[in-house]
Amino acid sequence: MRAVVVEASREVAVTEVPEPVPGPGQALVDIEAIGVGYVDVMSRRGDDPHFPGVGSVLGLEVVGRVRAGSGVPEELAGKRVLAQPCSGGYAERVAVDVDRLLPVPDGADPVEVVGLGLNALVAEGALHRARVAPGDRVLVRGASGGIGVLATQIAHARGAEVTAVTSSPEKAERLRTLGAAEVVDRTRSGRPGGTYDVVVDTVAGPRVREHLELLRPNGRYVLCGGVGGVPGPDAFEPLLRDFHKSTALLTFSLNSVMPEERRRSWERVVALFADGGLSAVLDRSFPLADAAVALQRVESGQSFGKVVLLQG
Ligand SMILES: NC(=O)c1ccc[n+]([C@@H]2O[C@H](COP(=O)([O-])OP(=O)(O)OC[C@H]3O[C@@H](n4cnc5c(N)ncnc54)[C@H](OP(=O)(O)O)[C@@H]3O)[C@@H](O)[C@H]2O)c1
Repeated sequence: MRAVVVEASREVAVTEVPEPVPGPGQALVDIEAIGVGYVDVMSRRGDDPHFPGVGSVLGLEVVGRVRAGSGVPEELAGKRVLAQPCSGGYAERVAVDVDRLLPVPDGADPVEVVGLGLNALVAEGALHRARVAPGDRVLVRGASGGIGVLATQIAHARGAEVTAVTSSPEKAERLRTLGAAEVVDRTRSGRPGGTYDVVVDTVAGPRVREHLELLRPNGRYVLCGGVGGVPGPDAFEPLLRDFHKSTALLTFSLNSVMPEERRRSWERVVALFADGGLSAVLDRSFPLADAAVALQRVESGQSFGKVVLLQG
């Protein structure tokens, strides 16, 4: 079958690879739509320690149909699922642990579902962890990104007042339509004004410190990504200096979420989606053969929302 492999040069190439063989507790999924995220860019570059490395197939999230087979629970056979393999999703088929399959509502469009996908679980999980409540002021860094557009919508749907940090007037306008009450252009005004109950940060990098300083008493800062790089050595000093504010620094990675909690989080995402409180924000779709172009689009920061690969 065809798959997108990371080569020694750290470029990607569409290559013929052996069919995956599901092991015990795994299902074979016929892939329809593939999510492309910044984490794939990091895997290509060699910056994601979880990716198996050169010669491996990229891809952590797909929507597709489960093939019947020994070990596949009856209720999953032939069903459409959101699958989260540990790698191997940029392909025609992938073998996935059964406990990493989430049910897709009947009639839902596979591209929309992959548009929610892993990013919705990160956004929902991070906000859940920060105990976002109605009336909270929430700041989202990296708001136009795959995770950010969903965090903006979910926080808004939960009754929070959302400030989105982004980088252009066009992105700002779109974020307002997704529920942001306020938008800050990081390229112009520098630092957001005001104070916040929750900061959802998918960027990290050298500006963590100044955003930590925006927390209100009892505020929660959730670090869940790092497109801006590693924070400086004194980034977390405000936590100690402002000890009297009882602020909390939380980190959130989907890798540490147990299957049962993933399922509950997915149910909350699907319920919001069904109610119209959440929509997939789709950037562009590319055929699998154009995976390098799709990765370049994500890496360049030009995308708004989810980049998707399709078979064909
Ligand atoms: N926690 C988890 O479980 C988990 C799971 C998957 C991915 N991740 C990580 O989460 C991060 C975000 O992923 P994503 O898919 O949302 O990325 P993305 O789609 O590339 O979006 C990131 C956004 O960050 C902003 N940005 C980019 N470079 C920046 C910089 N130097 N300084 C400030 N802002 C910058 C851009 O938004 P604006 O132009 O609007 O500012 C960009 O759209 C990545 O580090 C990824 O590895 C975490």
